[in-house]
Amino acid sequence: MTTKVLAVSSECAPFAKTGGLADVVGALAKVLGDHDGECRVLLPLYRSIAHLAEGAATALELGNKFGGPVRVLTQRAAGIDLLLVDAPHLYDRPAQIYLDDAGKDWADNHLRFGLLSWVGSVIGRGGLDGWRPDVVHAHDWQAGLVPIYLRQFGKDTPPCVVTIHNIAFQGVFAPSTMGELGLDPAGFTQDGFEFFGKISFLKGGLMLADQITTVSPTYARELMTSEFGMGLEGVLRSRSHVLTGILNGIDTEVWNPGTDPVLAQTYSSRTLRRKAANKQAVLAHFGLPEDTSAPLFSVVSRLSDQKGLDIALQALPGLIAQGARFVLLGSGDPDLERGFSELASQHPDSVGVEIGFDENLAHLIQAGADTILIPSRFEPCGLTQLCAMRYGTLPIVSKTGGLADTVIDANEAALAMGCATGFQFAPVTVDKLSDALSRAMNLFEDEKAWQKVMRNAMKHPVGWERSADKVVDIYKGLLGS
Ligand code: ADP
Ligand code: GLC
Repeated sequence: MTTKVLAVSSECAPFAKTGGLADVVGALAKVLGDHDGECRVLLPLYRSIAHLAEGAATALELGNKFGGPVRVLTQRAAGIDLLLVDAPHLYDRPAQIYLDDAGKDWADNHLRFGLLSWVGSVIGRGGLDGWRPDVVHAHDWQAGLVPIYLRQFGKDTPPCVVTIHNIAFQGVFAPSTMGELGLDPAGFTQDGFEFFGKISFLKGGLMLADQITTVSPTYARELMTSEFGMGLEGVLRSRSHVLTGILNGIDTEVWNPGTDPVLAQTYSSRTLRRKAANKQAVLAHFGLPEDTSAPLFSVVSRLSDQKGLDIALQALPGLIAQGARFVLLGSGDPDLERGFSELASQHPDSVGVEIGFDENLAHLIQAGADTILIPSRFEPCGLTQLCAMRYGTLPIVSKTGGLADTVIDANEAALAMGCATGFQFAPVTVDKLSDALSRAMNLFEDEKAWQKVMRNAMKHPVGWERSADKVVDIYKGLLGS
């Protein structure tokens, strides 16, 4: 029997994206269709996707809620069934999804994502004519109140899965917001959504979820430690019987070096030499000399403390002195933006930096670079190393979370066995990263050995093949079949 799933998320690729959450929600929605599932994604109708309202049908009129009129539209786009929360007072805004023009969190984010969760609970309880989900799947803190509202307003409600993509973001707000959010103060307890005297959307969701998943097995273990749990380790330890780590995949149709339309030249593991045209295109894009013989290192990332790029910034001058080139695409922390821009002006022939978010350029860099750096302090799963492997671009990663679970370090044993797919280092220090960079430089000089690792990486399963079944098993377990 088909399992009907309502995914509740603030992001979904290719419509609204700031990071991997979007990719995962979009890919899962498509993949579940091939695994006895039917998924609809509940997403805010942000101004940036206002075009999706054209030709959409109104599925629900909810009247005035959370300070303004709210309705739900249905639309199918890019192979995904969307339910769009149309609430102009909260979502029809310029700028980025979470931040205002000044780069600060919107002051009413509790209402913006409280409403998303509340609508999720309405549809979960059967509010939509002709479609009632068997399971509600809430992603990250923005959907954390779904199980709270389900419990508060309904009796016969479907089970709820909460997925932690990144515990650094918890949705913590003043207790005075309880009234606006329509939360029953009886839930403001240790067993509910109270967290050190405040309201925590994520903690509330974790307490009431029927199952909790996170995005890699290693992160599932790390989350229960004080080093990684960010204050919620105790909550997760108390709920460990319902916590599972399931590795993310990427959409292997979107990330396919054999068909990717933005590449200068498509290629496969059998035509590795054709990758060079992409390297040349990347060098040209960044105005660097188009000699492809020097190794090209890269970063495509949010610039945040999580990603350890301050460490990279310190290690890079040493790498460049050894003759490597480096390009970065990213945006976020102003200090990091400035730091990388300065590095580019100090090394105009070796370093290219573009501050911004550019999906096409991300694909081109993945295809053109020789390696990608991901020196994260923590990384729940990480998708860029998976994209890189698929494109034969060797990831250099810290040994944490999903990075530890997906990359096989090119140490002597792995090279001898012919199974290495990249480079790992630990802990996240300049010295250890520099060692890994030097190891990569050395291996690059041995073309045959490097190409062997490229081929291994390209063969490594990075799609949803195995993980989709595990997600479906969680749903089926909840439905008792
Ligand atoms: P996170 O979700 O923590 O940012 P992931 O590795 O899971 O990290 O996912 C990041 C996603 O966002 C990938 O699809 C990556 O290609 C994309 N991405 C990150 N920064 C940029 C950027 N500046 N431009 C385009 N895509 C980016
Ligand atoms: C988060 C994490 C990242 C993960 C992504 C998708 O943004 O930082 O590691 O890959 O979610 O689950």
